[in-house]
Amino acid sequence: MYDFKPAAADPAELYRGLLGAADALTAGEPDAVANMANVAALLWEFLPDLNWAGFYRVASTKDGGANELVLGPFVGRPACIRIPFGKGVCGAAAESRAAQLVADVHAFPGHIACDAASQSELVVPVLRGGEVIAVIDLDSPSPARFTEADADGITALATLLSDRI
Ligand code: SME
Repeated sequence: MYDFKPAAADPAELYRGLLGAADALTAGEPDAVANMANVAALLWEFLPDLNWAGFYRVASTKDGGANELVLGPFVGRPACIRIPFGKGVCGAAAESRAAQLVADVHAFPGHIACDAASQSELVVPVLRGGEVIAVIDLDSPSPARFTEADADGITALATLLSDRI
């Protein structure tokens, strides 16, 4: 049994705990789906006030065309399966290879509403060798839920996962 305790109110401490748990769960495990599934569960357990937490992976289109984002392991309501690069918050993160911290999703051009409850969003690309291989997506029902501390913490998580997913 795994019993990680998200105890801290201080973001730096919270993310130290989250990263330690993610490291412990994914170290030495080569299965990307298992690692993404466990990390989605950890995000859900550690971070308050979320309505969706999970991954989109970079993969080819259904007809074998150029890459797009394809839904990966997550916690939350069923979500859109395929997102082209450049579309919505996730596609913007994938295309720019930069974190997207969105205080009000309704003000974000092209935001894709998978769950009408979502008000704010943080999407961080996972890079390997400079190429984006996935994005980590967090949604909240509260406006402006995410801070720079969250972006830094999730970016550190993305770095940890670079060769584990
Ligand atoms: N809102 C995202 C789509 C993914 S769902 O939030 C899970 C976007 O605009 O890219």
